Amino acid sequence: MPWDPDQYERFREERLQPGRDLIAMIEAGDGLSVIDLGCGTGRLTRELADRLPHADVLGIDRSEEMLAEARQHARDAVRFERRAIEDIEGTYDRIYSNAALHWLPDHPALLKQLMSHLAPGGQLAFQVPSNSRHPITRIRHEVMRSEPFADALANRPSDYGVLDLHEYAHVLFDLGAEAIQVREVVYPHVIEDADAIAEWQKGTALVPIREALGNESFDAFLDAFRERLRAEWPGSPVLFPFRRTFVSARAPI
Ligand SMILES: C[S@@+](CC[C@H](N)C(=O)[O-])C[C@H]1O[C@@H](n2cnc3c(N)ncnc32)[C@H](O)[C@@H]1O
Repeated sequence: MPWDPDQYERFREERLQPGRDLIAMIEAGDGLSVIDLGCGTGRLTRELADRLPHADVLGIDRSEEMLAEARQHARDAVRFERRAIEDIEGTYDRIYSNAALHWLPDHPALLKQLMSHLAPGGQLAFQVPSNSRHPITRIRHEVMRSEPFADALANRPSDYGVLDLHEYAHVLFDLGAEAIQVREVVYPHVIEDADAIAEWQKGTALVPIREALGNESFDAFLDAFRERLRAEWPGSPVLFPFRRTFVSARAPI
C-alpha cells in the first residue's frame, strides 16, 4: 500500500494526540518487551520507548515508505521491522497499536490472535477510528459507489472492521482478558476548510482508494470528493469531530 509519510504528517499534532493518550494508558514496568503494531513513522514508538525504562521495543509496519521514516527513531533496544500485523511472532509484555488495526478485518479473530501473543499479565492497548457514521465517511462511500469509480472500488471494504464499544468488551471477556477498558473519545479538530478534510483523508482513508484507482482516476475521485465536501461545509473553519475507540486489556497471570 503506497503510504506517504509526508502526507500523513500534514496533520501531525492532531494525529499524535490520540497516540499519546494511548501511551498514557500503558502500564509502566521495567525491562518490558513491547511491540508497536502498524508503527508508521515511528514517532510514537519512540515516545512509548522513552516512557518505559529498559524496554525492548519493536515497531512493525508493512509499508517500506513509513519504515524509512521510522528508522530515524531507532536506537539501542528500539528496532523497526517490515512485517504484517497478521504475521507477528513471539510474546510481549505490552502490545500497543495506534490507528492501525482498523485496516484489518474480523476483529474478534484478530483480538484472539493478539491476546495469544501476550505474556502472562501482559497488556494489549489499541486505538482505532470509529468514525463510520460521520458524514465524511458517508460522502466518501457515496463517491466510491458512484460512476466511474464503482467498478474499480467494488471489492474495497466499504466500512471499517471496527466493533461497537460493548462488542470489544464482550470479545475480550470471552477471551479471558482482565482489567478491560473500552472508551470512545471525540477529538473536535478545527481545520481550515472542506479541502483540508480531503487532504487529511488523503493521508489515511484514501490510501487504498489511490492504490485501487491509479493516479489519474484518483485525481478525478479527489475532485468529486472535494466537491461533495465543499457543498456540505462551504465555510471556514470547519469542525471535524473525530471519534476514536480506545481499548485496553490484560492477559491473566
Ligand atoms: C494511520 S497509520 C498509523 C501509524 C502510527 N501507528 C501512528 O499512529 O502514527 C497506519 C499504519 O498501519 C500500517 N498498516 C496497515 N495495515 C497493516 C498490516 N496489516 N500490517 C502492518 N502494518 C499495517 C500502515 O502501513 C500505516 O503505516
